[in-house]
Parts: sequence; C-alpha cells; structure tokens
Amino acid sequence: MNSYGSFPGARPRRLRTTPAMRRMVAETRLDPADLILPAFVREGVTEPVPIGAMPGVVQHTRDTLRRAAVEAVEAGVSGIMLFGVPEEAKKDGLGTAGTDPDGILQVAIRDVRAEVGDELVIMSDLCLDEFTDHGHCGVLDDQGRVDNDATLERYAEMAQVQADAGVHVVGPSGMMDGQVGVVRDALDTIGKEDVAILAYTAKYSSAFYGPFREAVGSSLKGDRKTYQQDPANLRESMRELALDLEEGADMVMVKPAGPYLDVLAKVAESVDVPVAAYQISGEYAMVEAAAEKGWIDREKAILETLTGIRRAGAGMILTYWATEAARMISAGR
Ligand code: PBG
Repeated sequence: MNSYGSFPGARPRRLRTTPAMRRMVAETRLDPADLILPAFVREGVTEPVPIGAMPGVVQHTRDTLRRAAVEAVEAGVSGIMLFGVPEEAKKDGLGTAGTDPDGILQVAIRDVRAEVGDELVIMSDLCLDEFTDHGHCGVLDDQGRVDNDATLERYAEMAQVQADAGVHVVGPSGMMDGQVGVVRDALDTIGKEDVAILAYTAKYSSAFYGPFREAVGSSLKGDRKTYQQDPANLRESMRELALDLEEGADMVMVKPAGPYLDVLAKVAESVDVPVAAYQISGEYAMVEAAAEKGWIDREKAILETLTGIRRAGAGMILTYWATEAARMISAGR
C-alpha cells in the first residue's frame, strides 16, 4: 500500500498492456546480425542429404552450400560455421582429410569465400572428429587414448590449411589443452595474423550432440568424457576461460546453450571479448520434434529459446535456425 493510491501500490502489469508498450520496454532484442549458421557439406554427393534427426537441415552439396550462404547473407545473418563430411573411405586414424588442402572442408571454405566474399564471416570447425575413422577429436596413442600433444600438432596444420583456404575465423572445438595457443602460433607463423579464433571455451560432454553425430556421419563409439567437460561443473569453465584468453582467444563460446545459461551468464559478465553460444543439434531436434507433434508453437518456441540465450549474455548465437530466425526477426514476429 502506498500513500497515493490503493492496493497494490505497484502494478508492473501497466508496462505489459499493449504490444507497442511491451516492445518499448523489452530488455533484450534479437537482431539477424547476432546469428551464425552452422552448415554441413558432404563430399561426393550430387543432391543434399536430409539429416533424419534434424528435420530441415541437410548435408549440403558444394552447390547447395553456396546457395545457403547467399540466403544467409540476404537474411542478414552474420556468419557461417562450416563442417566437412568426407567420403567414408577417406577417414583414417590421423584425420588426414582434415589437413588435405583439397579436403572437403577446405574446398567448401574456398567455395563460400568465392560466392559471398567478406559479406559473411566464414568460420570453420577446427577438429578431427569428422575425419578420423575412430571418430575422436584427436589422434590416439598406442593404448587408444586421445593423445593431447600429438593432436595439437594436427590442429596446427589444420589451422594453416583452413586459413590458406580463406577462412576468417577458426573454431577449435576439440577441447585439447593448449589448442588455442598452438593454433594462434600456427596462424601467425604463416602470416595469418588476421584470422581470428573463436574458442570453444566451455564445451560440455553432452547427450544433446546426438543428432550432430548423424549429421557428420560420425564413426565414434563411446564418448568424449576425457576431453569435454562434465556437465556438473561451472568453476572448471572459468578456468578454461582464463586459459583460452591467455592463449589468445578473440571470442569465446559456451556450448550447448539452453541447458547451460548459468555458465553463459557467468562467462559473459567476466570477459571483455565477444561471447557466443551454440544452440546445438539436440536443442534444435527437441523443438522440431515437439512442434511436429503439435505440442508447441514452433516459431514462438524458436524465438523464445534464442531470446533466452541472448538474455543470458550471448552476443552471438550459432543456430541451425539462423536464416529462418533472421527472416522472422526482420518480419517483426
Ligand atoms: C566437434 C563438434 C561437435 C559439435 C560441434 N563441433 C560434436 C561433438 O563434440 O561431439 C556438435 C554440434 C551440435 O551438436 O550441433 N567437431
């Protein structure tokens, strides 16, 4: 009760009365420029291959990838994150196809760069898992364990071939210790000081990567728990963050996004570099599946998840809905 009126004295609902009022007082806005489109390109296919667990997402041919890049530009999306899917026969223990200058990812980088130039920020996944026959993000030692330092040598070479192909930003996603520093050195050594590093700073070992494994035709058996983080931990992320910044990360990322908004919020308030979040395959699949069953409103759910991620502190969001969401945002939905 206050002295100027009757109970209740405060009425927050006054600011929710009309769409115009709500729009005016909104604390978080989505902008197409916040969005980055992750895209898969598969070697040797003449038609795009649908990904069963990700309705609406495909393994692109080289041609359809170029088209997807143009559509992203037209929708106002800022960037594209490329993942290469090699021919099965080209996978080996060292992930050789990942460092072949004519490997599918390098070819795709060149294609997209030729198609859209600097109109999109072209990013590449810097990891071995798509290219190894065992599916791990690194090379294995004689006991079958992922060998950190031997993997770093592979990442250094991979960074250089991706940079030579014309990428603007590399995204080391393998969670090896020292990967950011090694990649920075490798890039600088060949005069690619301008290629930036988006560090996968807090990357959790998550069940929600499931659909991605189909998307890249992963050969993985087992899990990545010896290198990706335990979902139970937050302090550990802050340690990873300090290390990545010290090693030269230009931007940092939290992944997955939705179940880790507390991590994202804490990272975002702790740094002075841009912060990204990756809304991953499983997050996408859950919304698509529920919408398909008619259980939720698809478009509203998409925008709500993105708003939540933005509100938690992400300036950039990698999402498979990037192009569609950008159009929805521009249309004022
Ligand atoms: C590793 C990588 C993965 C994803 C992005 N980079 C898979 C993994 O760590 O197992 C997952 C993305 C997604 O699920 O959408 N190259």
